[in-house]
Amino acid sequence: MSQRVSLTQYLVEQQREHGLIPAQLRLLIEVVARACKRISISVNKGALGGVLGSADTENVQGEVQKKLDVIANEVLIEANEWGGHLAAMASEEMDTIYVVPNRFPQGEYLLMFDPLDGSSNIDVNVSIGTIFSVMKKPENGCGVEEQDFLQPGSQQVAAGYCVYGPQTTLVLTVGNGVAMFTLDREQGSWVLTQENVQIPADTKEFAINMSNMRHWAPPVKRYIDECLAGKEGARGKDFNMRWIASMVADVHRILTRGGVFMYPWDKREPNKPGKLRLMYEANPMAFLVEQAGGAATNGLQRILDIQPGQLHERVAVVLGSKNEVERVTAYHREDAAL
Ligand code: AHG
Ligand code: MN
Ligand code: MN
Repeated sequence: MSQRVSLTQYLVEQQREHGLIPAQLRLLIEVVARACKRISISVNKGALGGVLGSADTENVQGEVQKKLDVIANEVLIEANEWGGHLAAMASEEMDTIYVVPNRFPQGEYLLMFDPLDGSSNIDVNVSIGTIFSVMKKPENGCGVEEQDFLQPGSQQVAAGYCVYGPQTTLVLTVGNGVAMFTLDREQGSWVLTQENVQIPADTKEFAINMSNMRHWAPPVKRYIDECLAGKEGARGKDFNMRWIASMVADVHRILTRGGVFMYPWDKREPNKPGKLRLMYEANPMAFLVEQAGGAATNGLQRILDIQPGQLHERVAVVLGSKNEVERVTAYHREDAAL
């Protein structure tokens, strides 16, 4: 029988071999993984657990919250606030940062999360997920404030997501490649099921919400038109399209078999750079994708180099197979130079 490697064992070995995971960071990752296990149980219960439907509240971005958005947010906070590994947390579902209450010890890490990604898919039983990003609090004396979170994604020390699909899978990077762990429900443990995940540089699959086509900028339209033209067009090959509308599930497919994912700026809300949020959606996914040999830009610039100005800042996203991301980015640069 091949030997099963648990998440704990993987993290301990990463620390021994590469010195990447101090004890506090290991605790943090294990606590997040435990919280994801709890969220997974709620997701699986569905209507039996009374977790479907709307919470009838709005988050800071003006989106109506689903019950599971709120539940997942609470699970992550409760799990993480007391362990002493964190200084503060930030979430899609909270207007401002959540500083660890002073009845608990404060650690040196900052945790950001999208507690439930793909909310529109909850009630229809399609894959959804949790995304997280970890940075260190800058050494600037005592206290912690929103400004401490506003570091470029290149400063992340760990990032990952959990996808609640036919299997529950945790995908993680600590800056030494990407590893996947599958939840063994009977044992209640995370088992390493793939290491050194690599995204092929070329692909014939793209993911974009095609219903927004009439609102796109010319470089996006040009790229997708070429894909749609297939063998007879400039690309000389047929493309396939997938759009799950849960970023976690779309990125998981790309980490598994390649592809390009785009949520570009569009004319619907011209003052917003895009729909997705930089700190807890684009940055962690960009870190994972780059660690798997892919690329991630906002059309013009590497996502991990963007200096954030606000906690809930939005960003255009192009990520996945390197050669396709470079092509889309080149089209944007050509357009910007006109
Ligand atoms: P969230 O559920 O956290 O608000 O994120 C939803 C995001 C992302 O997961 C997905 O890629 C995108 O919104 C789907 O957008 P469309 O509704 O335009 O398909
Ligand atoms: Mn999301
Ligand atoms: Mn969400």
